[in-house]
Amino acid sequence: MHDDIDALLDAETIAAKVRELGAEITAKVPADRELVLVPVLKGSFVFAADLARAIDRHLVVDFFGCRSYEGTSSSGVVQTTLDLSKSIEGKHVIIVEDIVDTGLTMQYMQENLATRHPAALELASLLHKPARTKVPVDIDYLGFTIDDVFVVGYGLDFDGRYRNLPYLGVMKS
Ligand code: IMP
Ligand code: MG
Repeated sequence: MHDDIDALLDAETIAAKVRELGAEITAKVPADRELVLVPVLKGSFVFAADLARAIDRHLVVDFFGCRSYEGTSSSGVVQTTLDLSKSIEGKHVIIVEDIVDTGLTMQYMQENLATRHPAALELASLLHKPARTKVPVDIDYLGFTIDDVFVVGYGLDFDGRYRNLPYLGVMKS
C-alpha cells in the first residue's frame, strides 16, 4: 500500500522512545499537580494516545487545534481550529506535538496558553527538525531529532493522508 514511502523510524523504535518519555513525565511532574495533556490536532493524535498510556499517574486530556501548513511548506500563518474546553489555570500543562519544524506553531501556542496562567507549561514533541528553525523552542520531552526531510506516518500527514501508517517514513521523491 505504501511503496512510495522509505521507512525512517519503525514502530518498535517509536514505542520504546514513547515509553521512556512517559516514564520521565511520570517521574518529573509533581504528584500534587493536576496534569493536563494538550495534544495539538491533528498531527499528534497517535503520539498523544500512546504517550498518555505510558504515563503512570492521574491526568486529563484536552485538545487544541491549530494549523500552519499547506502541502509540504509552512504558510507561516497559524490558525486556531479548536480551543481548550476547560481552564488550565494553576494546572501542570504539557503540550503534546508531533513535530517542531520552524517553531512558529509552538511560539503561537505557548504564548496563547501562557496567558491562561498554568502552574507549568511544558512541551513534549515526538520530532524536532532543527535545520528549519525560525523561532527557537524549548522542548522538555523530545523523541527524535531528524534531518530536513518531510516525514509522514504515526499521525503525520501529507495533505491529510498517511496518518495511519504505524511507522514514520519519508516520501520518495
Ligand atoms: P512549525 O510551525 O513550522 O513548527 O510546524 C509545525 C507543524 O507543521 C507540525 O505540527 C506539523 O503538523 C507540520 N509539519 C512540519 N513538518 C512536517 C513534516 O515533515 N511532515 C508532516 N507535517 C509536518
Ligand atoms: Mg501539527
